[in-house]
Amino acid sequence: MIATREFGRWTIEEFAELDSTNTLASTRPAWTVVRAADQTAGRGRHDRVWVSGVGGLWMSLVLPVPADAGAVETLPLVTGLVLCGILQSLPLGGLRLRWPNDLLVGDRKVAGVLLERPAPDRVVVGIGVNLKNSPAERDAGLEPVAASLKNFLKVVPEPEQLCEAVLQGMEAAYGQYLQEGFAAFRDRINRCWDGERSVALVVDKETVEGIFVGVDEAGNPCLRDADGTTRIISGPLVWQLKELKSD
Ligand code: BTN
Repeated sequence: MIATREFGRWTIEEFAELDSTNTLASTRPAWTVVRAADQTAGRGRHDRVWVSGVGGLWMSLVLPVPADAGAVETLPLVTGLVLCGILQSLPLGGLRLRWPNDLLVGDRKVAGVLLERPAPDRVVVGIGVNLKNSPAERDAGLEPVAASLKNFLKVVPEPEQLCEAVLQGMEAAYGQYLQEGFAAFRDRINRCWDGERSVALVVDKETVEGIFVGVDEAGNPCLRDADGTTRIISGPLVWQLKELKSD
């Protein structure tokens, strides 16, 4: 470990390199933050690999959670909103959320969130933001789908700076979430999708298509069909959301 320091309610543990900040954070108590300058085995949602690299922000926050299982479904959305709010203060055209919590600039992903529950009383919220790192240098296949903020900004925030903004934002949002629930966030989240898009949701073994119009009060994705009816798809069953190109 390079250093430990206090910030607000948080105790931040900083490392030069870890396999995955989420893995180490799963052994830590609530209000710990594990941050690494690089990760050798970063993990994404649904067991996907998350490519890291020096210059990005790789951090995992441990939060206490009430027994209510809904937190696992809705906290990732709240985290996406917090990140979106912070990045909106930068001159980034085309910044948007893609369900459940990918942050994109145009069609390229710049940040992701992985929430895990290592114990019934706490969750680990893993956050990765591509800042000055180059994901495609480690995996050329990422070039069309991933980007770093350095691709869009003249002045790119330092990982430390963004880390503190995220911790402040998450502490405040989590307090409100405990008091008022997901309802306090839903409308704001639904304004971050940047309009309606044709999507295909991979649900178990089938694919469901429709126009993504936002989330319901439990964070489930809502799709509008061609006949104008809206269907709610169970979020935990969705393996992947693919955006379909409209003609
Ligand atoms: C995703 O979009 O699939 C989620 C990506 C989450 C990546 C972050 S980086 C910090 C933390 N540690 C990990 O191994 N994963 C998360």
